[in-house]
Amino acid sequence: MTDKPTVIAIFGVTGDLARRKLIPSLYSNFIKGRLPQRLHIVGVGRRDWTDETLINHARQSLRNYAAAIYDERAWELFRQTLSYSKVNLPQPETYKTLRDDLNALDGGCCNRLYYLSIAPEFYADVIRNLGALDMAREDAGGRADAAPPWRRIVIEKPFGYDLTTAQSLNRVVHSVFKESQVYRIDHYLGKETAQNILFMRFANTIFEPIWNRSHISNVQVTVAESVDVGTRAGYYDSSGVMRDMMQNHLLQLLSLIAMEPPSAFDADALRDEKVKVLQAARPIKLADTVRGQYDGYRAAEGVASDSATPTFAALKLYIDNWRWKDIPFYLRSGKAIGQKTTQVNIQFKRPPNSIFELTESGDYSRNMLSICIQPDEGIHLTIEAKIPDQPIAKSVDMELHYKNAFTADNLPDAYERLILDAINGDAQLFIRSDEIESAWTIVDPVIEGWQCDPGAPPMQTYAAGSWGPAAADELLEREEHVWRVSCLHEKASCNDSTPLNPPDRSGGSKAAQLE
Ligand code: BG6
Repeated sequence: MTDKPTVIAIFGVTGDLARRKLIPSLYSNFIKGRLPQRLHIVGVGRRDWTDETLINHARQSLRNYAAAIYDERAWELFRQTLSYSKVNLPQPETYKTLRDDLNALDGGCCNRLYYLSIAPEFYADVIRNLGALDMAREDAGGRADAAPPWRRIVIEKPFGYDLTTAQSLNRVVHSVFKESQVYRIDHYLGKETAQNILFMRFANTIFEPIWNRSHISNVQVTVAESVDVGTRAGYYDSSGVMRDMMQNHLLQLLSLIAMEPPSAFDADALRDEKVKVLQAARPIKLADTVRGQYDGYRAAEGVASDSATPTFAALKLYIDNWRWKDIPFYLRSGKAIGQKTTQVNIQFKRPPNSIFELTESGDYSRNMLSICIQPDEGIHLTIEAKIPDQPIAKSVDMELHYKNAFTADNLPDAYERLILDAINGDAQLFIRSDEIESAWTIVDPVIEGWQCDPGAPPMQTYAAGSWGPAAADELLEREEHVWRVSCLHEKASCNDSTPLNPPDRSGGSKAAQLE
């Protein structure tokens, strides 16, 4: 941990993300003693707040979102790190006050992390305005006899609206910051279980030999959310599931699963391999896509009554390289699904010859490795086992649950890890410019095709509380595959794709036969 004074300037400190995630994550790191000792957190916003307003706001945020770790004595220390600076984001002249405020903290030789937690339309303005006042220069303000202070910027998603806007934002970013100063966030990469994908694959020997097209039948990534668009309709209706989830979270999970072993556990080696996966993605055929809207979406406040924005998408994608050629990767995500779950299911091929009698289906189930990203974080391995006292086999799960295997009471929030990494200069869990652009290259043609191609699959509707439209099942049935879910212990049984709200679609039993 550095003993150099460090400033974290949170642009958009009055907003929702700062209240729910950033302030609690900073506080949690603070009480764990993980932040630099000489720390200043400067809230930056348009409102006429004072330091005192920010302090009250921060305290309320901790009481609401970090109640379990809130402690009066720690708070008294934490509050002393907080101050507020008013900036009108698009107006360059207002940054002089910010610059002076920051320079006043330890003579301007602090390390600085600028955190953009603001509406994306202001990203370019803020970056240009910081640049105009030399606030990104790492050689500015340091003492000649000491290591120069660093300047870093964290940029929240969405990074761009499509490939063109992402490229143009990257150009603005690079006109002010070097790529090594830039930390583009995808909070899914900060989730413990997403980080564990690399440990599971590359800290063990048993997976890698079978992690390829010879042994794997198909890979499924499911990111199901039980929430609907709620109060975010204004943003969501102009984005939809492809931009909100697929371009970032699902493609990031996919690249962790599909990447080649990196030569080192460092930011460049890892991101080199991730980007190769994205660049090897075969253009997705529109026929291999499904889009859906949950019933009632168009009636939500802030949503156009004729909205064509999908709240659900399912895709089939191929990675054209030696490891994965012709192995389908199925990705699906939706809002208003019956249960919140994020999981990656790797389905292996069946044994070539069946010599045992089997229960239920006429064939072996596929072995499946399930990476349960959230909730009930863990790993399940579905295997065929002999039923005691009967000469027949049945699928059972070997299960690792984080809550049993590790002593930590609660897993740290993704933001806790990511903020710390940005302060420590570790960019492994952040997205590089070429990764962002490659991801847009994958999803853009699908979004465009849905809007403009008369042959595109039509918008489906689905019942809130279901697993999405039936067409998503049909997408897999064409190859005699079926969506499989594991990691669910309350509402649905393992390896059962039965919708939570039957009977609106064909379901589990048919699916089980196919598999
Ligand atoms: C965000 C999306 O990036 O991720 C939201 O903008 C979504 O729409 C959220 O709800 C899901 O994150 P998590 O961590 O709750 O799975």
